[in-house]
Amino acid sequence: MSVSERRASARTAVVWEALEPVLAGGPLDVLDIGGGTGGFAVRVAELGHRVTVVDPSPDALAALARRAREAGVEVAGVQGDVSSLLEVAAPGGADVVLCHGVLEVVDDPAAATTTIREVLRPGGTLSLLVAQRHAAVVARAMAGHFAQALELLDPSSSAAGQSRTGHRFTSAELTTLLADAGLEVVSVHGVRVFADLVPGSLLDLEPGAAGALVELERAVSDRAEYLPLATQVHVLATA
Ligand SMILES: C[S@@+](CC[C@H](N)C(=O)[O-])C[C@H]1O[C@@H](n2cnc3c(N)ncnc32)[C@H](O)[C@@H]1O
Repeated sequence: MSVSERRASARTAVVWEALEPVLAGGPLDVLDIGGGTGGFAVRVAELGHRVTVVDPSPDALAALARRAREAGVEVAGVQGDVSSLLEVAAPGGADVVLCHGVLEVVDDPAAATTTIREVLRPGGTLSLLVAQRHAAVVARAMAGHFAQALELLDPSSSAAGQSRTGHRFTSAELTTLLADAGLEVVSVHGVRVFADLVPGSLLDLEPGAAGALVELERAVSDRAEYLPLATQVHVLATA
């Protein structure tokens, strides 16, 4: 495994572990909104589920098709947007919705969450992965972008929650967003608490380091005191 694969696995291990019981039954109808090139979707299809990716990018959908073909699985790719999701997905038709790394870039996260609720069947599960604001403030400051860090810091400022690269969320804001959409939070995990801070050379040179990092990420993922340090927050919520 290459260093980038090892780092990728340390970045997603906590999410996969949380999803394991959700994807244990099946086959399920899984809708991956903004599923991009299929990093999650193809692996979910490999577990035997019926997966549809809705994404506005034709390039991403082409890469998804290639990846699915190489893996020998079927994943339906549909060009579309979360704001017009109900034009391409049936209301109440999804057992599971994945929305990973997307809420940051949509114009209206509250409207998007409400639409997601509508495509989930009653009792269905949303897996939501978003960039976490406190870690984004620290990352900006450490990179010397102090004005940007300050912009992101204050929830009452007009720029708060939305940096130049999109919205950032605290776990409290997510809980409110999901409750307003009629979704009930089942679990909250911090993702990439350390994975983005560790130099790649360390993962490459130190035998066993990548595995130990995954173990550490798992151990801190449900500790509230580490949540503000996590690059992303992962929430499972039911409709
Ligand atoms: C950061 S990538 C995440 C890809 C994938 N979900 C993952 O976790 O690897 C964001 C994806 O969201 C898609 N996207 C951007 N705006 C969107 C929108 N309004 N509705 C749905 N998807 C969108 C992009 O085309 C891109 O594939």
